[in-house]
Amino acid sequence: MAAPTVDQIKKMREEYLLPSTMTYFERPVNIVRGQMQYVYDDQGRKYMDAFSAVVTISVGHCHPDVVSKIQRQVGQLQHMTTLYYHPNIVQYAKKMHEMAGGGDLKVSFFTNSGCEANELAAILAKNHTKQQEFIALRHSFHGRTLMAMTLTGQSSWRHSMPYVFGVTHAPNAYCYRCPLKLKYPSCGVACATQVEDIIKYNTSGRIAGFIAEPIAGFGGVIHPPKEYFPIIADIVKKHGGVYISDEVQTGFGRTGKHFFGISHWGVKPDIVTMAKGIGNGVPLGGIITTRAIAESMRGKVHFNTYGGNPVSMAAGLAVLEVIERYNMVRNADSVGTYLKSRLLSISNRHPVIGDVRGLGLMLGVELVKNRKTKEVAPKETLRLMELCKDRGLLIGKGGMAGNVVRIKPPMCVTRRDADFIVGVLDESLGVMEKEFRIRRPAASRKR
Ligand SMILES: Cc1ncc(COP(=O)(O)O)c(C=O)c1O
Repeated sequence: MAAPTVDQIKKMREEYLLPSTMTYFERPVNIVRGQMQYVYDDQGRKYMDAFSAVVTISVGHCHPDVVSKIQRQVGQLQHMTTLYYHPNIVQYAKKMHEMAGGGDLKVSFFTNSGCEANELAAILAKNHTKQQEFIALRHSFHGRTLMAMTLTGQSSWRHSMPYVFGVTHAPNAYCYRCPLKLKYPSCGVACATQVEDIIKYNTSGRIAGFIAEPIAGFGGVIHPPKEYFPIIADIVKKHGGVYISDEVQTGFGRTGKHFFGISHWGVKPDIVTMAKGIGNGVPLGGIITTRAIAESMRGKVHFNTYGGNPVSMAAGLAVLEVIERYNMVRNADSVGTYLKSRLLSISNRHPVIGDVRGLGLMLGVELVKNRKTKEVAPKETLRLMELCKDRGLLIGKGGMAGNVVRIKPPMCVTRRDADFIVGVLDESLGVMEKEFRIRRPAASRKR
């Protein structure tokens, strides 16, 4: 049977898939092959995947070391569930503990996705603390199940329906558009200190936990000041809650220097939730927590049919080994730092760039129609993505208005790839600015 064309796939998607299945592009691409940082469409066109298939490809598309481990396992045993013993799950859990720093984070449970991991983290926090209420952050994204959607702090990702009881959202440290209209550092990081009052006035005064992404991904790469999470962690502890770090996007070295993003902020989480990059394209999610918190599950049944599946565990183990073997955390730091500096350098000549932020290979470029008014530029962002795609570069977007370009390539990228990304962005920004008549203010043009 001949493979369907782009037009045929378009028709079939409309006919057979839920209408909420979205695409970014006016002229969609049919991606049929991947190799490390590149993907190829059905016409053989090559693209640099600087969005890592929505931050899932951590070590490279079809990384040969990962593929060979998966192939070997698929040929031996695909599935039996955790009702039966298998070596892969325990070997993986041990390796995860070591990669997580070998400290108190020791006990794991595996799922298929990030939202299931966040659901489980909430159950663990409630069981451990005997409390029900949570603090989450505005601009956050935690997944599409009911609890995960309730924890998510963006209207675009919430459907109007009865949410889970007991979740209150605190302000995120979005310094570029400070929710409190203050300026760092004279603000005293009031967005963090305010969490004390939020717990005091919006909850019973005792909470089950706090959940946050160390850098909000879908929220638009919100990169907080260094004091923000440590202040909140102290407040959460004081009110009896556990600290849950959602590392679905920031984890496994992507932010450079550390295996988990939260380590940049010097906070020791009680529970870490994971997905996306730990599977490098295989549906794998999970949590890692302390023995004390894990003990709250003793005597209770918690089961996930495919969680801990031998194939996903083989893939996960191979991914961790590749991260270690090829020094990918260091690479994310050095290439990411270089890429950010190059993005900052082109921001001088593109008035549409309002802000460049992020760490390692988790970078965001916020686009605005006017730097002074900071009016958001969502249409311009979409057009930029299309122009980049036509030039062989795939990028993502995020933020409440969809005006933040997200650049999160696989951790195998090189400086030369960073130059390619910036080159294509630079050219496409120029074309887009012309189309939308975005010009530098007269004063800055003279300089
Ligand atoms: C930070 C974060 N947490 C949780 C999730 C949910 O993961 P999944 O889609 O695997 O359920 C996502 C998905 O994008 C995410 O970005």
